Amino acid sequence: MKILAIESSCDETAAAVVEDGTKILSNVIASSTAMHRKYGGIVPEVAAREQIKCVIPVINEALENAKKDVQSIDALAVTVGPGLIGSLLIGVETAKTLALVTKKPLIPVNHVIAHMFANFLSPAQPVEFPAVSLVVSGGHTELFLMESEKKLTWLGGTLDDAAGEAFDKTARLLGFANGGGKAIQEAAQKNTINSTNSTNTPIKLPRPLLHDDSLNFSFSGLKTAVLRAWKKFETHDETLINNFAFEIQEAITDVLVAKTIKAAQLHHTQSILISGGVAANTRLRKKFNLNLSKLNIFFPPIELCTDNAAYIASYAFFKGKPVDWHDITALPDLSVEENI
Ligand code: KG4
Ligand code: ZN
Repeated sequence: MKILAIESSCDETAAAVVEDGTKILSNVIASSTAMHRKYGGIVPEVAAREQIKCVIPVINEALENAKKDVQSIDALAVTVGPGLIGSLLIGVETAKTLALVTKKPLIPVNHVIAHMFANFLSPAQPVEFPAVSLVVSGGHTELFLMESEKKLTWLGGTLDDAAGEAFDKTARLLGFANGGGKAIQEAAQKNTINSTNSTNTPIKLPRPLLHDDSLNFSFSGLKTAVLRAWKKFETHDETLINNFAFEIQEAITDVLVAKTIKAAQLHHTQSILISGGVAANTRLRKKFNLNLSKLNIFFPPIELCTDNAAYIASYAFFKGKPVDWHDITALPDLSVEENI
């Protein structure tokens, strides 16, 4: 079964054709990130105006790359939420129009849940259930229990900022105008904290909620802690920035690893699935692999971690449940517990 999916929940406009939920035939992404850099963040109106221009060319390119025409597609899928209303509307209205014209079934998709299906796109080995799934992105840090592709239960999530947001905010504080978590990762790789001739003053940041009983996260305090520690230094040279980046990355990844393993132990799962933009972080991958000798750990390929339409198509295939296009609307505040 071939699904054409459209994703436009944030500043990306993406379309993909995926066969049977696992085989990517095409995956096209257009992003207005460069424009947003100019303004120091995403400007919703700017994003939506760009998306309206590129949604049709992106869909056409996805069909062309897959060597399919729209009539040979079996179903359509679209992200309905959560996300920016102006951006979501562009994908949703385009998908509804396509459904009307082609008379193909249309499957609405929850973007946050869909992230985890990046692990189902040609994995090296099939996912074994039950699994604990951590979705860790710019807007979400959520833990789910996955008993099958269709049976998902939310276990916990962030009480305030998402892990990606913590990376993005602290990256700006360190002076990185763009790149967010990726900029922190690259700077952290150049740290001198453990070098033997290092005369650095130690930087120690908190690991929020590391030892509490819940499966929740909290990252908003980290930004304040970084700011406070940062102000203690009179000069902020490159070495200091790199060492701060290292400690920020350690603090965030320590909590993500510990809480996810705790969830897996509590629910006796065989596998752990990680997904979302922060799953691209190489230090996070290394820490999980070091800590998990008995469990199977799944990470999507780096390019499938950040927003794209391939995992939207994959989730749509496993979930099914097409809805009459008249009844589909953009849902910017869609909850992570709604299995749409
Ligand atoms: O999943 P995504 O593309 O968009 C959302 O749905 O939010 O995730 C974007 C987030 C950003 O916060 C970005 O800083 C973070 O993923 N990110 C990373 C890395 N690459 C992207 N965080 C840490 N390390 C990375 N290598
Ligand atoms: Zn996302």
